[in-house]
Amino acid sequence: MADTAKVWTIREVLNWTGGYLQRAQIEQPRLEAELLLGKALGRTRVELYMDLDRPLEATELSAYRSLIRHRADRIPTAYLLGEKEFMSLAFKVNRSVLIPRPETEVLVEWAIRHLEEFAPEREERPLLVADVGTGSGNIAVTLAKRFANVQVTAIDLSPDALEVARQNAALHGVERRIEFLEGDLLGSVRDKRQGFDLIAANLPYIAAGDLPHLPREVLYEPIAALDGGKDGLALYRKLVPQVVELLAPRGVLLLELGSGQARAAGRLFSPESWEPVRVIPDYAGHDRVLIARRKSPPRRVLRPVMRAGRPGPDPVRT
Ligand SMILES: C[S@@+](CC[C@H](N)C(=O)[O-])C[C@H]1O[C@@H](n2cnc3c(N)ncnc32)[C@H](O)[C@@H]1O
Repeated sequence: MADTAKVWTIREVLNWTGGYLQRAQIEQPRLEAELLLGKALGRTRVELYMDLDRPLEATELSAYRSLIRHRADRIPTAYLLGEKEFMSLAFKVNRSVLIPRPETEVLVEWAIRHLEEFAPEREERPLLVADVGTGSGNIAVTLAKRFANVQVTAIDLSPDALEVARQNAALHGVERRIEFLEGDLLGSVRDKRQGFDLIAANLPYIAAGDLPHLPREVLYEPIAALDGGKDGLALYRKLVPQVVELLAPRGVLLLELGSGQARAAGRLFSPESWEPVRVIPDYAGHDRVLIARRKSPPRRVLRPVMRAGRPGPDPVRT
């Protein structure tokens, strides 16, 4: 697009930028060129194809040129578009939040299975879910949208991320069933009487030493969404003991992991409090989601204490 005096049609500009992004080693150059042109013109990809010979106005060309330059600088397409699809729903994203990943859909699919298992038993009160490190709210919103009787507590350290999550909850009409809490892991949960049925956490799990080797695109994402400490498990090490206190008996915890972390993560779960953990691979075959179920506490057998002259305590109320 060096020739600024030339009038470019949609077809010509797509052909040119497809080649340009390919030379810049962008993985799906034509698709990305189409998505970004759609953004610049406020059109869907199908609409572009229906109007391939339409000439671009100077302002449209300049908006598109700026998007293409940013993309060649490796700014992720989702940030340039301002949205990302997750579980077939559109989520707003900006640089305050991690871009939702397809691997996280595996966690959500298993969360749905477990909630479906609990749902028939739980008619008297809503199913209680916590999403720790909610980011864009993709997990919280998807679960709230899927189950009308789910109440979610969505937690993040970052107020800017929570703002994006709130917007996504409103976009999908579930804001009344999600409570947003700013805080460190589960420390800000106030009402600890009713246990959560399910806790999901996709917390940062990249080992600090691996951060400088990440693809350039990933380095545009918030460091607080990536850095999992020395071995990547620092936050999960802190979270698991908190979860034991807050999960209902037989409640389930789902953690997203990095590949190669399953064995070390499994050691965070003591057999006294937890059933043996399951590890679910993602679609590339890497261990990705750890599922742990809290054991029911052993039933206390209450015997009435009989003392001469006085009735024993009521075993039901004790
Ligand atoms: C890997 S991102 C996941 C975002 C989103 N749940 C997803 O699946 O795309 C992790 C999120 O955890 C948040 N976070 C990091 N440390 C936290 C902490 N100690 N307590 C609560 N949230 C934390 C980050 O701000 C970030 O939004």
